[in-house]
Amino acid sequence: MKHFAVIGSPIEFSLSPALHNWVFKSLNIQAEYEKINVKNEELLDIIQQIKNGELDGINVTIPYKECIMDFLDEINPRAESIGSVNCIMKSNSKIISNNTDWYGFIKALESNHIDPSDKEVIVLGAGGTGKSILFSLKQLGAKKIILLNRTFEKAKDLQDKIIIPYPLYDTKHVIKNDSIIINTTSVGMQNNQSPLDLDLLHNNQILIDVIYNPKETAFLKFGNKIGAKTLNGLDMFIYQGLASLDLWFGESLSKQVNFIQLKTYLEAKLC
Ligand code: ATR
Repeated sequence: MKHFAVIGSPIEFSLSPALHNWVFKSLNIQAEYEKINVKNEELLDIIQQIKNGELDGINVTIPYKECIMDFLDEINPRAESIGSVNCIMKSNSKIISNNTDWYGFIKALESNHIDPSDKEVIVLGAGGTGKSILFSLKQLGAKKIILLNRTFEKAKDLQDKIIIPYPLYDTKHVIKNDSIIINTTSVGMQNNQSPLDLDLLHNNQILIDVIYNPKETAFLKFGNKIGAKTLNGLDMFIYQGLASLDLWFGESLSKQVNFIQLKTYLEAKLC
């Protein structure tokens, strides 16, 4: 029996165990997946559990996608350039890591016919998930990315030819009536708050939230109410999870998974 887990804090709303255990059952794989709420000082202990074989692999979620990089033997070069990891395993007695969020986000955009190429895109949040999404948007050919973050210095650190940093309160100057706006912050996950002033939302915008639980954050709820196109984080979440499975098992298990059935199963668990 193989053992996997997602680590983070808070972790109670994560559907990763539901996703992975559903796949294990449907593909008849002898494995189990749990969620573990860890404190910063317990990260090393988790890595130790992978080293000694108690855990065969982990996913990493908020707020550890960046800081866990200090404890790893090897980081995939793409994940290194993104600056965050969400998938860890042991290989040849080394603890290696990768990032599947960027791929999950690209697949989610593609399957929902959202094309950011040659467009100006607004990204809210410059944390671990935000960095993956910046990478995805560049891969897809976004022309300009306005990056808004509460801690302005973190957005400023990511400034380049395409990424233009702003403080999160400066939204009025940059949000247009036809913007693609992507929330990568945790605002709305455990409360009814929106990461930006709802007055700035318009029905010609495309509004995307990486949060999938609740399935409709205040940000998306208002967008739906005014008739904007919206997308929550569930598709991205499923695609990043399936990509993690392929890395852990070293084969394309994801191709055998019925995406629609899995999504229906997970959607029923969301409020
Ligand atoms: P993740 O790995 O999920 O991206 P993270 O790295 O902790 O988690 O990043 C969380 C993001 O949400 C950051 O952009 C954070 O802003 P700061 O860089 O200023 O911390 C943002 N965030 C969290 N709580 C917020 C709040 N109450 N208001 C605005 N932004 C918030």
